[in-house]
Amino acid sequence: MPRVKIAPSILSADMSKINTEMKEVEKYSDFIHVDIMDGIFVPPTTIDSNFVKAIKTKVPLDVHLMVHEPSDSYIKGFVDAGAYSITIHEEACRNPEKQLRFIKKNKIKSCISIKPKTPLGKIREYLDIVDMALIMTVEPGWAGQKFIDSAMAKVKELRKLKPKLDIEVDGGINPYTARIAYEAGANVFVAGTSIFGKKDRIYAIKEILDRLK
Ligand code: DX5
Ligand code: ZN
Repeated sequence: MPRVKIAPSILSADMSKINTEMKEVEKYSDFIHVDIMDGIFVPPTTIDSNFVKAIKTKVPLDVHLMVHEPSDSYIKGFVDAGAYSITIHEEACRNPEKQLRFIKKNKIKSCISIKPKTPLGKIREYLDIVDMALIMTVEPGWAGQKFIDSAMAKVKELRKLKPKLDIEVDGGINPYTARIAYEAGANVFVAGTSIFGKKDRIYAIKEILDRLK
């Protein structure tokens, strides 16, 4: 299994002082997870590529597009804003391969995601072209939801299929659920509430990492 990586999700951070938040967590983070919501694929709307561009950090930005049918120019906006990786949703795209190829053409990492109720079979054909797969452990759209255990069957199956692939989990991750996902085969852990909801963010990250040994 690839190395364990932790990705604090800024959805739960204080956006009015995002660069202070970054300074606090960046030394202990492998990625900064950036949730982009369009009000169509998911009801809420969040930040745009201009906001992402203004984030000052040396930590790679892991951009999660919860966006219906993102166009090339829309994706390019996040490439130019400094994304390290871009995730699209299988359920949001008619032909996800088109977006995945465009992301790769821009020389950044590509990732495909599925919601809790979407079977793994829906992304099997993309597994050889992506750098990472995101198995959502809550319905996308909101922070602070409860981890959905049943997603672990997909993580286990995917790990068997792809021993070296980065497998990311997102939603309801805390020290306890991170361990469950780790044992199933996940190695990239997104956490919003369980990090930015705590006063001592570094301690919160360490608490998760301590469970992943
Ligand atoms: C939910 C987002 C998550 C969210 C996770 O749709 O994709 O990245 O920030 O938040 P927590 O860790 O609070 O479940
Ligand atoms: Zn996310």
